[in-house]
Amino acid sequence: MSALEVRNLRKAFGGLEVIANLNLSVPAGQRRAVIGPNGAGKTTLFNLITGWQPPTSGEILLHGVPLRSGRPDLVTRGGLSRSFQKNMLLDSVTVLENLRVACQAADRSRHSFLRSPASFPDVRRKARRAAEKMHLDNCLDRTVNELSYGQKRQLEVAVALCAEPKILLMDEPAAGTSPAERTNLIRLINELPADLTIVLVEHDMDVVFAICDVVTVLSYGKVLATGSKDEIQGNPEVIEAYLGKQHA
Ligand SMILES: Nc1ncnc2c1ncn2[C@@H]1O[C@H](COP(=O)(O)OP(=O)(O)OP(=O)(O)O)[C@@H](O)[C@H]1O
Ligand SMILES: [Mg+2]
Repeated sequence: MSALEVRNLRKAFGGLEVIANLNLSVPAGQRRAVIGPNGAGKTTLFNLITGWQPPTSGEILLHGVPLRSGRPDLVTRGGLSRSFQKNMLLDSVTVLENLRVACQAADRSRHSFLRSPASFPDVRRKARRAAEKMHLDNCLDRTVNELSYGQKRQLEVAVALCAEPKILLMDEPAAGTSPAERTNLIRLINELPADLTIVLVEHDMDVVFAICDVVTVLSYGKVLATGSKDEIQGNPEVIEAYLGKQHA
């Protein structure tokens, strides 16, 4: 069974069809890249998969269970978490607080009257564990403002890990990083547990091929091709979508 399956997915904003009859199947534990030119629909695809936006039509299944749209909280409980293309961190708050808020939000028992006080240390422990995974355990008490740009990107991923996901969607986690920061981020992502399914949206092909073995290319909301590095790089349609007809 696929960790993530998308069937005949469509999304239109008014007359503009941004996702057009899209099918996608990602086996558990795979590291899949989704690439495509600006405006291809990559972030919109993530918004649909996470329930942030309702699809116009089509179906999304997490581990075989169909999603109900409009309930991002249920998506998190289905084991899926995301990091954002745009900064979603609380700037004047410490690293630890950012992570605790994220752990708290993912905590199933947070609204329960029967919740035991023991769950508070549990949230703290989970926050620390997420920090360790992204090598932020040495700056837990620093505010986000005080972090380097690379550390902020690490924190974005750590925040997504707080939900203890089985599927992690990352939208351009390395955007704007220096080469050294990028190398570090790639290493940290590659050290995440092998059974974690990752779907990575990324423009930087070095990052894509350092993390993912299967690549799906989107263009105008459609899947142009899915395959290995060599299959993708040799595909005339893909070359055309990126470079225009004259290069195909
Ligand atoms: N809420 C919205 N209302 C109207 N149009 C939208 C909305 N969100 C996205 N779009 C349009 O949908 C298309 C796809 O946008 P999307 O952000 O998914 O692209 P992307 O592949 O993530 O691009 P980038 O690589 O630049 O991040 C674009 O033409 C965008 O203008
Ligand atoms: Mg985008």
